[in-house]
Amino acid sequence: MERYLLRDDIWWVGAIDWDVRDFHGYETPRGTTYNAYLILDQKVALVDGCREGFGPEMLARVAGCCSGRPVDYLVINHVEPDHSGAIPLLVERLRPERIFCSKRAKETLALYYGADTAQAWDLHVVSTGDELSLGQKTLQFIEAPMLHWPDSMFTYVREAKTLLPNDAFGQHLASSRRFADEVDRGALMEEASKYYANILMPFGGPIEKMLGKIGDLGLEIEAIGPSHGVIWRRPEDIALILDAYSRWSRFQAPERVALIYDTMWHSTEKMTMAIEDGVAQEGVECSVLKLTVNPRSELARHVLESRAFLVGSPTLNNSMFPTVGGFLTYLKGLRPKNRFAGAYGSYGWGGGGVKQVDADLRALGLDVVDPLEVRYMPSVDDLEACHDLGRRVARLVKGETQG
Ligand code: FEO
Repeated sequence: MERYLLRDDIWWVGAIDWDVRDFHGYETPRGTTYNAYLILDQKVALVDGCREGFGPEMLARVAGCCSGRPVDYLVINHVEPDHSGAIPLLVERLRPERIFCSKRAKETLALYYGADTAQAWDLHVVSTGDELSLGQKTLQFIEAPMLHWPDSMFTYVREAKTLLPNDAFGQHLASSRRFADEVDRGALMEEASKYYANILMPFGGPIEKMLGKIGDLGLEIEAIGPSHGVIWRRPEDIALILDAYSRWSRFQAPERVALIYDTMWHSTEKMTMAIEDGVAQEGVECSVLKLTVNPRSELARHVLESRAFLVGSPTLNNSMFPTVGGFLTYLKGLRPKNRFAGAYGSYGWGGGGVKQVDADLRALGLDVVDPLEVRYMPSVDDLEACHDLGRRVARLVKGETQG
């Protein structure tokens, strides 16, 4: 099996999931990888596991790198099943002398795999500041709570200046290439952005703190090996992803507008197109995203990458459209901040859908513009009002008017 050297006897020994398209509801059109890293030194350490079912692939890669040497230590940075699902198999086959994880990981592993199993693994708890010498190299542990689970931890290989931060800086991207400089840049950053939007957006505060902590600890970083996708190794690529995380964690966004909508009899659709025309006339890029043809993971990326988003819904039985309700439920969990937002849509008699959307956007604490409703089918005047709404939102995005 192909061996992949990250650097300085740190080997990629993960597994490639070419087929996954639904990652707990997150659409992954380019598949993913479950990355793990084997560090060869006087002691051999394996950092992270993989998803159940991919253990044999990972074990074959470990065997190819170890040349018969035992794996002395196993480090579990994160317990979500895409990384811990194969741990029972890995422990059974590799029989590491010691297993290291955070305090919360120890508790959670017992809940996932049973208290007896976790006890038999004899888990050694580590926390920020703890170190483990492998001989020439030292592993430094950094707790990373809520990046993105309470148990999350980073491992830093000090002498190799390599950060192994598990989910942080990842992308769902299956490839026979292992490094960021070997894959298409556009696809890579689109997947990194989508990953952040769907997995990490709710945790902007902890991420900003962690970026500060990396600076405070004085960690020199010459490679970042996340647990999904490709590895960042060139200085310009490391700067690119660190800058993107800094921008995303502070909820900064480009001057773009996203229109996210559904329609029953094309009225809300006509409104959407008139709003888009208004945004475009102001010279601002606008994405039109119909809920029935765009996966919600893609919509989340557009919310992350747009300074404003409007949500269009028809009224059905005095309520917002069910697809719109599903999207807003998902969005509530992602907790976007620092965005202009607004509701629009059509109704026939009692109304209610647009009011609900407007209330949900306000509950998110966004900077919400006045809602716009039309009855049955938008008239010429209604479409003019939609066009004006588009122009107004575009000017807000450009900073030309106040919200
Ligand atoms: Fe890739 Fe939180 O698991």
